[in-house]
Amino acid sequence: MDSYSEYVNERKMPPIFPKALEPYDMKPVENELGLTITERRSLQNGWSIIKQKQRRAALTIYVNLFTEHENLYEVFRSDGVLNIEFASQHQKEVLTVFQMIIEQVDNARFVKTMLKELALRHEAASVTNTQWQLYTNEVRKYFLETLADAISPTFVHALDKLMNFVCNFNDLTESKEELHRVTRIK
Ligand code: HEM
Repeated sequence: MDSYSEYVNERKMPPIFPKALEPYDMKPVENELGLTITERRSLQNGWSIIKQKQRRAALTIYVNLFTEHENLYEVFRSDGVLNIEFASQHQKEVLTVFQMIIEQVDNARFVKTMLKELALRHEAASVTNTQWQLYTNEVRKYFLETLADAISPTFVHALDKLMNFVCNFNDLTESKEELHRVTRIK
């Protein structure tokens, strides 16, 4: 017998080499937030630029949103008194939440737990899904405008996925009148 393969064939033995390769899934792996590792790093890179002007970012997003949707202030009214101080404080809270989400984006459980807790508070304060989406959308718009030159398709895609997750994870109660009011004002 001349060769190893002849020997194997002869004895009807399974060949040791070449072995059939295991099927290999080439799809990038997404975490529970639906983001691949490249997308997560891309978000963190983008955030490292935004965070240099975090205070200004919070203010710009707040001013843009409330200029366009003045009626949102009503959520900050209690017992007839408009709590502008809290609304203004809230602008920083919003950006801190996005900071925590992006910095902890590898830790899906942390992000989900935080969003769940936030949804409960907002639900109790009668914040609707539409209002939540408007704020999120303003944050997204600001990120895209600020990073204009430094932006990559991966970042845009990742940001869209993240914002959709942030909006869809919790279904805040929707009120039809609210939806109607917002679209009429726009
Ligand atoms: C991107 C969306 C939003 C984020 C990330 C966010 C973030 C937060 C955070 C972190 C708190 C807790 C603040 C604290 O404990 O001092 C909070 C509370 C609050 N937010 Fe938002 N917010 C969002 C959207 C909105 C919108 C659209 C409104 C209404 C126009 C709103 C109204 C309120 C109110 C009334 C509270 C006080 C709730 C309570 O009594 O505990 N938020 N928000």
